[in-house]
Amino acid sequence: MAILSIPNKHVQLTDPQEIRSFMNQRGIFFDQWFCATVFDDSASSEEILLAYHSDLDPFMKSGGYQTADVISINSSTENYAAIRAKFLAEHTHSEDEIRFFVDGQGLFWFHLENEEVFNLLCERGDLISVPAGTKHWFDAGDLNPFVKAIRIFIDMSGWVPEYTNSGKENEFLAFNLPNRG
Ligand code: LAC
Ligand code: NI
Repeated sequence: MAILSIPNKHVQLTDPQEIRSFMNQRGIFFDQWFCATVFDDSASSEEILLAYHSDLDPFMKSGGYQTADVISINSSTENYAAIRAKFLAEHTHSEDEIRFFVDGQGLFWFHLENEEVFNLLCERGDLISVPAGTKHWFDAGDLNPFVKAIRIFIDMSGWVPEYTNSGKENEFLAFNLPNRG
């Protein structure tokens, strides 16, 4: 269940409806899908995609999305430091970035025009669609990363990050993961 934070305003939202309207007002789609299946690390992409079939199929049809795959990162992921660095620098994409979090967690950061930077702690059940051109970055943490997420796309070439080189992400490196207190 997601938590939304605006670090420079000391704001934190935990109510899914509030988070949804905050995001929707800014053109970012947010939804939550529930599924009883708990996957262990041996679960294949096919098993994961099949378990979410009933949510995934209509969503993909209505958005014209062609393909879905599963990204899995954990503490034994090779080259994690390099993977982390790639996601952690502010960038945009030429197509929407859609992620459904099956398990684990990560912070999705957003840098919109004329707005304080905010982040969404994405956890099991959270779906986001970040519009093309939106400045963002992502962090699964320095130590013991754990993320399993479905990625949905029209054309894989739309994934190529266009880095802004603003260094904005460096202002937030000390941000601690939020909790529900
Ligand atoms: C990406 C994310 C994590 O581009 O922003 O894959
Ligand atoms: Ni991205």
